[in-house]
Amino acid sequence: MVEQISIIDAKEHVNEQVKIGAWLTDKRSSGKIAFLQLRDGTAYFQGVLVKSAVSEEIFQLAKELHQEASLWIYGEIHQDTRSKFGYEIEISNLELVGESHDYPITPKEHGVDFLMDHRHLWLRSTRPHAILKIRNEVIRATYQFYNDREFTKIDAPILTGSAPEGTTELFHTEYFGRDAYLSQSGQLYEEAGAMAFGKVFSFGPTFRAEESKTRRHLIEFWMIEPEMAFMHQEESLKIQEEYVAYLVQNVLDHCDYELDVLGRDKEVLRRYTKLPYNRITYDEAIKMLQKGGLDADWGLDFGSPEETYLADQFEQPVFVLNYPKAIKPFYMKPHPTRDDVVICADLLAPEGYGEIIGGSERATDYNYLLAQIKAAGLDPKEYEWYLDLRKYGSVPHSGFGLGLERAIVWICGIDHVREAIPFPRLLNRIYP
Ligand code: 4AD
Ligand code: MG
Repeated sequence: MVEQISIIDAKEHVNEQVKIGAWLTDKRSSGKIAFLQLRDGTAYFQGVLVKSAVSEEIFQLAKELHQEASLWIYGEIHQDTRSKFGYEIEISNLELVGESHDYPITPKEHGVDFLMDHRHLWLRSTRPHAILKIRNEVIRATYQFYNDREFTKIDAPILTGSAPEGTTELFHTEYFGRDAYLSQSGQLYEEAGAMAFGKVFSFGPTFRAEESKTRRHLIEFWMIEPEMAFMHQEESLKIQEEYVAYLVQNVLDHCDYELDVLGRDKEVLRRYTKLPYNRITYDEAIKMLQKGGLDADWGLDFGSPEETYLADQFEQPVFVLNYPKAIKPFYMKPHPTRDDVVICADLLAPEGYGEIIGGSERATDYNYLLAQIKAAGLDPKEYEWYLDLRKYGSVPHSGFGLGLERAIVWICGIDHVREAIPFPRLLNRIYP
């Protein structure tokens, strides 16, 4: 009996006989030798079939295989100094498991729409594979970061009656005869969690019915939302920058191959592991924009051009602090000496990637919050439970939300958030 292994573990089985379940991505053959490009989900490498070393039928079978045929491969692992992977398998036997005919994604170039229509198959290709491996590393590092710091994961509901981030982007559904919405953010529930567990986080899908067709907007995206009791904004900013630097460092440490597949400049990434990140106020940001010739009046909410311009002024991510109250959600803490701004910050990523984190200190005063809820046109009945948190031992607390896909496109250095999630939901796409 030979041991069944994964391609990624080939280095531990040099000169051993092994068995591998794999798919064929490409092949090349001459009269005497065939090269099979193989993948098993863990890695990609080459199988070599020498005609004189195998039976006539096996060599014939190899020559007739089509792209994405699935196979049992038997053979011996060898070092292969010519490939980046470093190992290959000299095949002694081959079994066809599942045929494949006319696989639509060929080694030639395809347009993005075509590839997105075939996303269920495109996932097998090296580029999506590399991006989603990096996504997996970001998720793994996220759990590690918060678990190492005594945060408790408190899962927020997906079906809710509340609208923390404004009513214009809600996905409505019916809930046994009453209205419900798909969650825009788990934050309000995390605030309840923080009062029970001190430091908490949620990590789940969130939904925004935004009619934006930009490279930064998904309809369904994943958000990490930490919330900390007895914590002011300044301390929360420190956690945010440590977290982001930690994500970048872990991708550098564990996804070297994937970053190479994407052609990402690792020196640039290393810059983002240095702390602290820059901090400017919204007021300063407006002045910078005006100086740069952008049409930016105080009170404006930043779009891509403004965020890109601001981020371009720095080599590292930059926090923009204390935005106008009028353009931020109802729950943010009012500034102690100014009533036109709130205690909040957005973290803008360099290289044109824009906002990756939105966060704030939270309002703690019952009457202030009630007035804010009413002013936002929300039904106070739906927020009674949230207001309760200000009735029974209200404490200073702060939190933030990191958009997983926004962080991934930036770390990967790719163009569009649609590639940072396995099956993107976009304005014009819910298939596959
Ligand atoms: O700035 P947002 O709307 O903040 C919140 O939802 C807060 N409740 C978070 C909190 O304080 N707990 O969203 C947070 C982040 C953004 O910075 C961005 O990275 C991402 O979520 N995001 C999106 N990502 C992809 N597609 C969209 N449509 C996004 N909208 C927000
Ligand atoms: Mg925001």
